[in-house]
Amino acid sequence: MSAATPVLQNDLLLRALAREPVPRTPVWMMRQAGRYLPEYRATRERAGSFMDLCRSSELACEVTMQPLARYPLDAAILFSDILTIPDAMGLGLHFVEGEGPKFERPVRDSSAIRALRPPDIARDLGYVTDAVRVIRRELQGRVPLIGFTGSPWTLATYMIEGGSSRDFARAKALVYDDPAAAHHLLDMVATAVTQYLNAQIEAGAQAVQIFDTWGGALSTPAYQAFSLHYMTRVIEGLIREHDQRRVPVTVFTKGGGQWLELMADSGCDALGLDWTTELGDARARVGHRVALQGNLDPAVLNAGPAAIRSEVERVLASFGSGAGHIFNLGHGITPGVPPEHAGAMIEAVHELSPQWHESS
Ligand code: CP3
Repeated sequence: MSAATPVLQNDLLLRALAREPVPRTPVWMMRQAGRYLPEYRATRERAGSFMDLCRSSELACEVTMQPLARYPLDAAILFSDILTIPDAMGLGLHFVEGEGPKFERPVRDSSAIRALRPPDIARDLGYVTDAVRVIRRELQGRVPLIGFTGSPWTLATYMIEGGSSRDFARAKALVYDDPAAAHHLLDMVATAVTQYLNAQIEAGAQAVQIFDTWGGALSTPAYQAFSLHYMTRVIEGLIREHDQRRVPVTVFTKGGGQWLELMADSGCDALGLDWTTELGDARARVGHRVALQGNLDPAVLNAGPAAIRSEVERVLASFGSGAGHIFNLGHGITPGVPPEHAGAMIEAVHELSPQWHESS
């Protein structure tokens, strides 16, 4: 290790991802930097727009650090978005207040798909790797930095639908009407995703997560062919060791509880679980092969601290004793959550988890 690379002061996350013993369960939150924090809203205001915030490495670093200043979290997650890749492919991303992401030029048919060109990661997404480097410098080895991407399927849904969707009518119609066009799109996006994650790893991301937010909307065979197949290909292409450390990969398919065995075959190190799957059941099924991350229902954070604490206790007990659990929410924290409630969750993990790690 070079003198410029400070040792990691808190490596609980990486140890738990490797299913090595830890004195307590590490904890971080999906979307931990975000609108529920007043300091995030202030920085976003200064940036002008969400994408301007992502494109400024200094401001992206500032908001990445905000939840770490408030809470004793065990990881930082790069502040960016999954939709940076389709934006870099020329689809024209913007965010409409209250409506979420929109693309000016969605890819609706096979001719639009065949006209697509892959992004040049270094040229078009250099702002993301710049942010990774700035954040690593600022972290000074305090906790590991998680990099991320959307899954090829999840990115394709936004590219085809032109934004968020309830039923994925267009994306699914494409899959069934013109599977060759769908595969062509997913293949190009999977290559971009692989290069993008590798660029984040080379810039300093110490673990990576693939957000397959909409994989759970598919039938089992369609999930295997159009989502899992491409995530497996991405994982096969990743740099798995950097700076003399393994770079663990977490796959999070929301709604994927019935496919855990298949997901564990993807070559990943950990599975993210939403709150509809019990951790104890998941552990019995795949816990001898992968670590498990999750899975407190984010809506619990709208309840009071006493209820939060008892749900944290229940989640910890569901996983049970021993290594291989990373505490998290089952999906991203929502904007209306009082910041003290997130604090109560994290404090409860610190207080209640050591008893599950006492060596027998
Ligand atoms: O977790 C973190 O703190 C890192 C940052 C992060 C963001 N988006 C910031 C963000 C991460 C990991 C994401 C991932 C992401 N983005 C996903 C997958 C994870 C998931 O939640 O399932 C998806 C589907 C997106 C696409 C996206 N970006 C949507 C649908 C929206 C609108 C959400 C909304 O509530 O309006 C975004 C914008 C976005 N990405 C915000 C943040 C903090 C809110 C932007 C703002 O208004 O400031």
